[in-house]
Amino acid sequence: MSRLNLSMCNIKFNNPIIPASGTFGFGLMDFFPFDKLGAVITKGTTKNPKLGNPAPRVAETPKGMLNSVGLQNDGIDHLIENIIPYYKTLNPNVIANIAGETIEDFIQIVEKLNHSEVSMIELNISCPNVTQGGMAFGTSKSSIKTLVSSVKKVSKKPIIVKLSPNVTNISEMAKIAEDSGADCISLINTILSMRIDIRTKKPILRTNYGGLSGEAVFPIALRMVNQVYNAVKIPIIGIGGISNWKMAVEMIMAGASMLQIGSATFNQPTTPIDIIDGLEKYLSENNIDNITDLTGSVVLWS
Ligand SMILES: Cc1cc2nc3c(=O)[nH]c(=O)nc-3n(C[C@H](O)[C@H](O)[C@H](O)COP(=O)(O)O)c2cc1C
Repeated sequence: MSRLNLSMCNIKFNNPIIPASGTFGFGLMDFFPFDKLGAVITKGTTKNPKLGNPAPRVAETPKGMLNSVGLQNDGIDHLIENIIPYYKTLNPNVIANIAGETIEDFIQIVEKLNHSEVSMIELNISCPNVTQGGMAFGTSKSSIKTLVSSVKKVSKKPIIVKLSPNVTNISEMAKIAEDSGADCISLINTILSMRIDIRTKKPILRTNYGGLSGEAVFPIALRMVNQVYNAVKIPIIGIGGISNWKMAVEMIMAGASMLQIGSATFNQPTTPIDIIDGLEKYLSENNIDNITDLTGSVVLWS
């Protein structure tokens, strides 16, 4: 039995490393076999296919990047018919990341996924709620409550609620998600940001604002994971800027049971595997029996 084996929401994982939604695709198979990962995850999928936002939709920034891809995807039917069965041949644990513009959208997608082979469903709640004037679901306590409790009523799969960091009090949002039935919390999604082209005076992104990810967001993500760990009892998947095994250890010490690795793979595609190897070595050198012994082990100053 490996020191990295763990069980979360009654599902067994070989290790805690999952690539982050939207940053992961078949291209990574050129660099490592997907059965080495704890799980694979899909691009955010909506009820109908989406073309995404107009270009430019990516901008560089120090130690990070901005994106406004806008959930470009082929829709839930394509995912269920083509992508999930294929991913399932590569890794026993497939997680579907889903998004919607209304609660009804989310419910319809979840009802379809009930009949698929996914192990878990991750709700991207950073998308705009069109019935509430376009405000992101994840920035309103009442929207989180209605969305999560409605989804939980129909879902036969464990639900991960992926929190938006664009809020004043992340612990409150996590607690509402937990009280509404979430089985797991993941955080953080990208941080609302901007860059300007000083020659044209125009924002670089065609949508003006976009989501910041990459190493630049790591300390913010770490702080939020720790605050959420201190507020809820359900497991946490830590996401945001993790690009080596030492940062992975920090994120687990802050309170994460599993991790997602995103933008770092754009610079170094083998990052998820390098982190798995680094964690294994760290546990063995420090005589730690299992990775779960590290979760939340940070000792805060009093
Ligand atoms: C190009 C790009 C596309 C993304 N697409 C999605 C998505 O479809 N669904 C989602 O929940 N998060 C999406 N994200 C957010 C990531 O999953 C992750 O939460 C975020 O990038 C922070 O992690 P990182 O700093 O390791 O990249 C996307 C991020 C990037 C950079």
